[in-house]
Amino acid sequence: MSSLEQELVAAIRNIPDYPKPGVMFRDITTLLGNPRAFRRAVDELVHPYAGIGIAKVAGIEARGFILGGAMAHQLSTGFVPIRKKGKLPHETVRVAYSLEYGVDEMEMHKDAITPGEKVILVDDLIATGGTAEAAVKLLRQMGADIVAACFVIDLPDIGGRRKLEALGVEVRTLVA
Ligand code: PRP
Ligand code: HPA
Repeated sequence: MSSLEQELVAAIRNIPDYPKPGVMFRDITTLLGNPRAFRRAVDELVHPYAGIGIAKVAGIEARGFILGGAMAHQLSTGFVPIRKKGKLPHETVRVAYSLEYGVDEMEMHKDAITPGEKVILVDDLIATGGTAEAAVKLLRQMGADIVAACFVIDLPDIGGRRKLEALGVEVRTLVA
């Protein structure tokens, strides 16, 4: 493990039995609250994408907003929120996605992306990949050129990375 990975792993809090028994929740609020770990994570997320014409960073609600805002600032790009249904005020595109129990829907404003724009997608964590897959569908519906999907944490046993890669999306994660 690199020293960066070690530092990020140490900064992430593990909460047993949250949100239900048997689940180990990876809580990034401790990483966000640690000035050095937060800066190093954002620096590492953006470094391949500086100066290559990225137009927008798209962040997935909720923790993707925090990371994505910092990344967009650092890359001098715009920021696009991808939100759970009913939260965005203007005309949206909407897509359904599966949760462990049932389905939900995610939305993005129709005018948030100009067709052909290069976009980086970001969230804190990829598990099944269902949430990120829905975001990819929304972005592609609007004609985005998705350069990569970035996550601080991969849960590799669950297979989300492979799901996105099968859609032709480059996936970048910092710790597994
Ligand atoms: C978590 C996480 C990702 C998603 C990953 O968000 O922040 O968005 O789950 O899971 P998946 O790869 O299996 O789709 P959550 O649904 O808990 O929503 P929140 O950010 O609003 O808390
Ligand atoms: N942390 C945050 N989001 C998640 C997790 C987790 O451990 N598992 C699935 N979504």
